Order: sequence, then structure tokens, then C-alpha cells
Amino acid sequence: MERIRLGRTDMRVSRIGLGAWQFSGDAWGAITYEQAKAVVSKALEVGINFFDTAAVYGRGRSEEFLGRAIRELGARDHVYIATKIHGDWLRRIDILTSVENQRRRLGVDAIDLYQIHWPACWHNTPICETMKTLEELVDRGLVRYIGVSNFPLALLERARSCLSRVDIVTSQNRYNIIEREADKELLPYLRREGIVLIAWSPLAKGVLTGKYTPSNLPTFEDVRRNDPLFTPQNLKLVWPVVEEITRIAKAHGKTPAQVALNWLIRDPWIYPIPGAKTPEQVVENAGAVGWSLSDDEWRTLDRLGWEASQKIIYVTW
Ligand SMILES: NC(=O)c1ccc[n+]([C@@H]2O[C@H](COP(=O)([O-])OP(=O)(O)OC[C@H]3O[C@@H](n4cnc5c(N)ncnc54)[C@H](OP(=O)(O)O)[C@@H]3O)[C@@H](O)[C@H]2O)c1
Repeated sequence: MERIRLGRTDMRVSRIGLGAWQFSGDAWGAITYEQAKAVVSKALEVGINFFDTAAVYGRGRSEEFLGRAIRELGARDHVYIATKIHGDWLRRIDILTSVENQRRRLGVDAIDLYQIHWPACWHNTPICETMKTLEELVDRGLVRYIGVSNFPLALLERARSCLSRVDIVTSQNRYNIIEREADKELLPYLRREGIVLIAWSPLAKGVLTGKYTPSNLPTFEDVRRNDPLFTPQNLKLVWPVVEEITRIAKAHGKTPAQVALNWLIRDPWIYPIPGAKTPEQVVENAGAVGWSLSDDEWRTLDRLGWEASQKIIYVTW
């Protein structure tokens, strides 16, 4: 698979990564270690070398599964592991404790990319305490690069101003054809500053694959049970976009998931990390790389997706 440099880092990463939230065992339903290992193994086989997990995914289970699989597959020297620290653990003492637990679970000396999962909501931790501690982790060689996730622009700028020796290299945010809040101010800033947007939910949790139709909506037993995107009203609203994605996919002999990811990777500053529950999904998603939508197709999806994104209502009661 095509490799790119991840922003200002020295990491040569596959054009898409793999999200490992699916290994948590709770959020996305039961998964055994062997199933998770099969997903990682297939990802390596198709050339994926960037993996994203988090402390919070299954309370460490995703980190453990990912670290163990990479170790057993003998791949540690060929891959990059990104993880995140829980947004409620951003005091210095908590960061120093968590990073040791995370290195142990992942089985690595240094974490390649260490991200703040979400801003401190409850503990009133000053942002500079957090950022200076992360800088210290880099100095001590415990993590190689630092990033943030789900930060509004003003807080991201403030976080950067706390740092003197390193900088934030990535910002992980929800971004896909139909969920586009980052377009308003964050993405233009990231492009200007050379910070990569790591796009979470790049398939809108499966909506953009076309398999969940407004008239054929399963009763989810997973994290999607309460996701506002899956209300009949919102699914109906975004359905014309999914139909257009499907039409374009047919014209290229591709699948809707491949079109949805290809739309994202047109922008060198966007880095999708689709989650996969099976090796088949990994193979399909890898097929998003190595070809291009036409300018017209890209623009049509851009416009339709943007218009739909502004009509989605996240309020459910
Ligand atoms: N920073 C954050 O706050 C944050 C938040 C969310 C996610 N993330 C990260 O981003 C990653 C991806 O986001 P996500 O898991 O929310 O959503 P996603 O990647 O948009 O969707 C993943 C789901 O879509 C379905 N799928 C994947 N590939 C498919 C294919 N080729 N064909 C059909 N269905 C397919 C699978 O579920 P089904 O088969 O059950 O439909 C899979 O679990 C996560 O693993 C995690 O690493 C970060």
C-alpha cells in the first residue's frame, strides 16, 4: 500500500490506518483475541502499518490485544502504534501512572503517538500541566510524538502555546463525508499549521457502507444503539448521499466503503483510521487506496455530504 509521511513526523505510514476500538469487547460487541489477531494479521498483509487504540477501549483490552498481536506476529519494528490517554487522567501524576500501564499493555518501550483522548471536563486540570507532562514523556523517550483528540480549535492553540520543545503533530476528530464540523474552522487551521487530522468514524460507523438502510435498520447491540446518527430521521436524511456514493462506487467497480475512504484521502492532511471487525473488512478498506475519484465525483460528494451534515440533528430527546 502507498506510504506517506505523517505530517511533520518521521513516520512513513500506510495511506490509511486501522482503528482498534473494535477490539474493546464491549463497545462493538464480543470479540476474542484470536479474532482481533486475525484482523491485525490481515492489516499487516495488505500493508497497513499504523494502528490506533486507547486506554479506555475495553478498559485496556484493546491495547492488550493489539500489543500482543503485533508482538506475536513479529511486527513491532515495522509498525506505528498510536494510543490515547483517558480524558479524565490529565493531571501530571495520572499521566505518569497511565503511560506506564499503557506501555506495559502494549508491550513497547516507546509509544509512537500519544494522544489526549478528550479535553479535561471534570477535573479542572490546567492545560499547561498536561502539555508539559506530555513534553516530559517525549524527553524521557517514553513517547515519540504527541497529539490531541476532540479538542476545539481555541484549546488546541492554547495547548500548543504551553509547549517549548515539541509540538502537537496530529488532531484526531470525527470526520467523514456526512459529519463535517471540522470544516468550519479546525481543518483550515490544521492544514495551515501542518497538523494531520486523524479522521475517526471515517465510515460514519458503517452508515457510508450502504448496508444500513432507513427501512432495514437492525437493533444494534453495540455503541450504535444510542448514536443519534442511526435515528430513522437522520438515516433518511443522509440516504441520498449514500445512494450517490453507491452509484459512484458501481461506476468504478468499487464498494461504497472504498469510495467513502477515497473521498477522504484526496486531502493529504486527512488520515482515516477505519475500524474493522473482520479480515474481510480490512481488505475491502485497503482497496480505498491506489485509485482516485474524478474531480466532479469528489465535488458532488463534498457538496451533498456538507448539505446533509448541516441538517443532521444530534438531539434525541
Ligand atoms: N478519538 C476518538 O474520540 C474516537 C472516537 C471514535 C473512534 N475512534 C477511532 O477511530 C476508529 C474508527 O472509528 P469508528 O470505529 O467509530 O467508525 P468507522 O471506522 O466509521 O466504522 C467502523 C465500523 O464500520 C463497519 N465496517 C468497517 N469496514 C467495513 C466494510 N468494509 N464494509 C462494511 N462495514 C464495515 C464495522 O461495523 P459493522 O460490521 O458492525 O457494521 C466497523 O466496526 C476506531 O476504531 C477508533 O480507533 C476515535
